[in-house]
Amino acid sequence: MTLGGFLRRAERMYGEKGAALGQIATEARDEALYLILFSLGLPLDSDAAVLQRRLTAAESGAVEGVLRRRLVDRVPAAYITGEAWLGGLRFKVDERVLIPRSYFVEILPGQVDPWLGRPGRVASVADVCTGSGCLAVLLARHFRAARVDGIDLSAGALEVAAANVRRHRLSGRIRLLESDLFASVPARRYDVILSNPPYEPSAHVDALPEEFRREPRMALDGGPDGLDLIRRLVRQSAARLKPGGILMIEVGGGRAAFEAEFGHLEPHWFHTQDGSDCVCLVQAARLAGRQARARS
Ligand SMILES: C[S@@+](CC[C@H](N)C(=O)[O-])C[C@H]1O[C@@H](n2cnc3c(N)ncnc32)[C@H](O)[C@@H]1O
Repeated sequence: MTLGGFLRRAERMYGEKGAALGQIATEARDEALYLILFSLGLPLDSDAAVLQRRLTAAESGAVEGVLRRRLVDRVPAAYITGEAWLGGLRFKVDERVLIPRSYFVEILPGQVDPWLGRPGRVASVADVCTGSGCLAVLLARHFRAARVDGIDLSAGALEVAAANVRRHRLSGRIRLLESDLFASVPARRYDVILSNPPYEPSAHVDALPEEFRREPRMALDGGPDGLDLIRRLVRQSAARLKPGGILMIEVGGGRAAFEAEFGHLEPHWFHTQDGSDCVCLVQAARLAGRQARARS
């Protein structure tokens, strides 16, 4: 069979097996082609002529094995290949980390810089819940004068993050810290705090397709209403931001609940292509006002 023939068959199988998409691709054809090229060791930017390539028996066996892992065993494609992309950069991933797909990639830097007096002067950044370290890397590449703390409670995730920090040659500017949010982070104030925390309500996590349930539960589960970590992060950030600093949080489906609880902080909601607009920004001055009111 040709590679193109395998691709058509794989595409059909994605439908028949009810494979869930959305972790590295939204179209079955794109994900199947990626897996086929990967399993044959062919370049991902191969041109259309590759579809005519006739597969040897050994190559057919390799492709079938990979498709079986993906469609029968339900292993996410990125865990099979050990890699994923965000913002055009390649990251190592495995079962210890969420597969990178944060909305922040749409927002950084274009929508964020206008909120910072002098983006070029940003000196300190925290990526709370760093996982694979993908956002810490994107932040360090944009804020070139900044030192970035990547914080996570999972020692396993931090091992993956360390590999990614090395891969992108940022060990000199990114420090990885094992901590429950800021609890074990040495005293320091930041110009920018960013977080893509676990924000799914626990009951939603239980109902997710198997591929998504293979990601670490602690990367997804935000407690009964999804806001457990977000609530604590908002509270802790008041004492961690410099005056003029900003806090940015991805809240997923929790926008209405966030507004109901934190609307008085006047969050700004960034625009995302799918219209979910589920990443918000809160200015340090608003958080400071909240603290002052809580004290009085
Ligand atoms: C949604 S993932 C985000 C990973 C990465 N930032 C990304 O965008 O791909 C959330 C991460 O939060 C971490 N986490 C969960 N609870 C935490 C806590 N209490 N303190 C710090 N990190 C936590 C998980 O280990 C996981 O790596």
